[in-house]
Amino acid sequence: MADRQTVLIAGGNGNVGGGAAMALAGRGAEVVLLGRKSSALEARAARIRADLAGRGSGDPAIQTLEVDLSDQGATRRAAGVAAPGAWRGNG
Ligand SMILES: NC(=O)c1ccc[n+]([C@@H]2O[C@H](COP(=O)([O-])OP(=O)(O)OC[C@H]3O[C@@H](n4cnc5c(N)ncnc54)[C@H](OP(=O)(O)O)[C@@H]3O)[C@@H](O)[C@H]2O)c1
Repeated sequence: MADRQTVLIAGGNGNVGGGAAMALAGRGAEVVLLGRKSSALEARAARIRADLAGRGSGDPAIQTLEVDLSDQGATRRAAGVAAPGAWRGNG
């Protein structure tokens, strides 16, 4: 990717989301994994970093953000944290 883009991935620790995160991080995007369990998100982020390092893909930018997307208030707060140019997540 010419310009680094930030991509929020709901279900970032899941089958579909985890695969998407791997593919996008491998193409140079900054990836933010969203889910309800910080420890699971961090474990997934570590696996993606290790996999990409094994392929010589450098140091991917992978963040995590714990949020329950069934909670509208929490979702709004997460959107504010992760707004373009305003990333200050917990990953
Ligand atoms: N896998 C397939 O082949 C396939 C095919 C067609 C459609 N789909 C659909 O695609 C979606 C994802 O599938 P998947 O296989 O990746 O499922 P999955 O492995 O169960 O992952 C779902 C992810 O969503 C997160 N999640 C669930 N509720 C959440 C909430 N309230 N707030 C935040 N995060 C939440 C879970 O993380 P936490 O529990 O840690 O929060 C989990 O990481 C599903 O809707 C599935 O029906 C999947």
